[in-house]
Amino acid sequence: MPSLVIVGAQWGDEGKGKIVDLLTGQVEWVVRYQGGHNAGHTVVIGEEEFILHLIPSGVLRPGVRCVIGNGVVVDPAALVVEMDALAARGIDFTPHFHISDRAHLILPYHRAVEREAEKTKGTRKIGTTGRGIGPAYADKIARVGIRVGTLLDADLFRRVLTTNVEAMNYFLERLYGVCPSEAFSVDAIYDEYMGYAARLAPYIADTSLLVNRALDRGERVLFEGAQGTHLDVDCGTYPFVTSSSATAGGACTGSGVGPTRINRALGIVKAYTTRVGSGPFPTELTDQVGETLRQAGGEFGATTGRPRRCGWFDAVAVRYAVRVNGLSGIALTKLDVLDVFDALKICNAYRYKGELITEFPSDPLVLEQVEPVYEELPGWSGSVAGIASVDDLPKEARAYVDRIVELLGVSLDVLSFGVRRDQTVVLNNPLAL
Ligand code: IMP
Repeated sequence: MPSLVIVGAQWGDEGKGKIVDLLTGQVEWVVRYQGGHNAGHTVVIGEEEFILHLIPSGVLRPGVRCVIGNGVVVDPAALVVEMDALAARGIDFTPHFHISDRAHLILPYHRAVEREAEKTKGTRKIGTTGRGIGPAYADKIARVGIRVGTLLDADLFRRVLTTNVEAMNYFLERLYGVCPSEAFSVDAIYDEYMGYAARLAPYIADTSLLVNRALDRGERVLFEGAQGTHLDVDCGTYPFVTSSSATAGGACTGSGVGPTRINRALGIVKAYTTRVGSGPFPTELTDQVGETLRQAGGEFGATTGRPRRCGWFDAVAVRYAVRVNGLSGIALTKLDVLDVFDALKICNAYRYKGELITEFPSDPLVLEQVEPVYEELPGWSGSVAGIASVDDLPKEARAYVDRIVELLGVSLDVLSFGVRRDQTVVLNNPLAL
């Protein structure tokens, strides 16, 4: 039975939530493997819109088992709010919900450290979501993080928390000059987190074991990536990245599943480009065209509400994503947003100091200076939002899609042209045998 990893092929916000929701109709398990509540996955079902941050998008399909894997950083306060919000809307997923005991906790001091660090960074300011994601991963890598499983051992939790709070208070005061009156209290955090422990205990498990056993039984598993390839801590536009492994490889380490058990990788590719936060963005449009894209695409952050930076489709950036994720296919999303344009541009190469480059550069300083080389294609009249098959696409829209597929050299598995489930055509089912 195939298992599939879904990743963002750009800077996040490609429309992964919709595609995950669509494909979860065919799977028994959905596993989030990295990131935290910095993500915002939007799913529209009928007239209802759901924005999921931490809980996998599979939650909206009754009976699908949802896992928060070990590679995720969990803010239990945010998780409980999300669980309550779903329950209030009649979504009863908890009988099928599991949280890895190896996932790391976000603690209140992580947000404080992030806030102070961002203030001092100058031109290297990341423009984070302010959720404490980076400092929580930093603690994990420094081997001082606190894992979700530790919530089940109150004494151990208090001991580790005490050491960390003392270190963080010292750090905040001495390095960032934070007033001692703002110091964190071990007792307050302990009491708050013991409340979460009681609430979350039934779901905490060795999820690697659960998922591998499911694969042994022949059940289908979808690994749901958050953010996108160019925000990956290793493969992304470092340092303007998030702190987790958002590429396909992260699905293995972030869920405790070996690479031989994941059969396919589907890249979610938006028909144009957006980015939130700082960092290089070669095809960015800071003019009226960019504003038109932002308005037509509703390009405002699902987590922070920040306006997203918008630009033309960048084939160099997405070809890189095809390579580093080993994509077996793509889902091209939000084609309908381009209805409004008379002409469209696709970037197929960059010019750097007079030289043409076709491979995505590793150095952000190079990326900041490249000039996009565009080819222009005609727009179409009317809307693609109501088509029933790709044959119904206006010929210019078809040419635009075909050109992207040709430039990427990868199979077009899914085409999406609106927020609703039925505004989708599946050309090759990535979960078919
Ligand atoms: P952090 O993940 O909050 O540390 O933010 C690091 C960078 O990743 C910032 O530029 C954020 O805007 C960006 N980022 C984080 N999560 C998302 C997401 O879900 N979509 C798009 N950008 C994101």
